[in-house]
Amino acid sequence: MARLVQPLRIGPHEIWPPIILAPMSGVTNRTLRALYKPFGLGLTVTEFVSSNALQYGSRRTMEMIDQHGLERPVSTQLWGNDPQIMACAARVVRECGADIVDINFGCPAPRVTKTEGGSACLRDLDRCEAIMRAVVEAVDCPVTMKMRLGWTEQELVYAEAAKRAQAVGVLAVTLHARTARQFYKGSAEWEHIAALKRAVDIPVIGNGDLDDPHIAMQRMRQSGVDAVMLGRAALGNPWLISALRALMEGEEAQPYPHAAARLRYAVHHYHTMVEEWGEERAVPQMRKHLGYYLKGFAGASELRERVMRTTTATETLALVEATIERLEREPLVA
Ligand SMILES: Cc1cc2nc3c(=O)[nH]c(=O)nc-3n(C[C@H](O)[C@H](O)[C@H](O)COP(=O)(O)O)c2cc1C
Repeated sequence: MARLVQPLRIGPHEIWPPIILAPMSGVTNRTLRALYKPFGLGLTVTEFVSSNALQYGSRRTMEMIDQHGLERPVSTQLWGNDPQIMACAARVVRECGADIVDINFGCPAPRVTKTEGGSACLRDLDRCEAIMRAVVEAVDCPVTMKMRLGWTEQELVYAEAAKRAQAVGVLAVTLHARTARQFYKGSAEWEHIAALKRAVDIPVIGNGDLDDPHIAMQRMRQSGVDAVMLGRAALGNPWLISALRALMEGEEAQPYPHAAARLRYAVHHYHTMVEEWGEERAVPQMRKHLGYYLKGFAGASELRERVMRTTTATETLALVEATIERLEREPLVA
């Protein structure tokens, strides 16, 4: 294997390949992280967890920081607006096995920003700094942070935020190259990611709109980032991860499997979710995931609609299995 890029180093962790699955609320639970890890993820991140909620430790909150064990190293992501509460939360997640604690300065959702959490912190860099310092002092593992470019296009504070992060001992920063105001509109501006890489010495992780392994490699080379983070495009398509890993290892990227094979994997994902979460909780969660897998073949959108109306695993899986049989009879359709 001829590595074309270097491993990502965060404190004691040598992360290979430098491919990270983005934290995605309601999506990247322990089951998904463990399922997608073998495709070639060097690091996975939990969905973000409220530092306030962690003080009460409800079952649902604790499930969010729970680990499978197979997907390590795991970074646990926290959000909040109060340095001391964030520090307490960091100690809790560290005790529960977090290898890295990541601080969320990127979420643009109003339920988070109205309490001055997530990307709203970028409007007050002194508070950002106080949060980072408190978390770094609270735990004996690496602390990282993930942010957007700034609150609006007129306030691009990412370089200043990263310099302050570096100064207080944060060991890596991830930049999703959109402003908070943009939510998911427009496209990620990778020139800013390259500028951030030039501005700090700690590792920089680039994130935003990577949906093709060749483009991801190109972005990595052009921006000089130390790792890339894949989000939406990897959902229902873990073969994006394996294709990118192959390129990083100096190999050819294999073509994505044909539709029947993709759906067989979706069935495996479904069974794993039912086994680990029980049918009642797995069925609604898997509706979302099947929506990601059921793409790119004749009849996909009709099947998606039918799956959205099913209420049991048996009913859903029967529909998907029937489609697999059809696709296997007509391989050229895939
Ligand atoms: C459903 C969903 C949930 C997300 N939840 C989080 C989160 O909990 N923490 C976070 O830092 N970013 C979150 N994000 C943002 C992603 O981590 C990532 O920054 C963004 O999707 C851009 O990357 P992409 O273009 O590869 O998807 C979420 C994105 C989506 C689509």
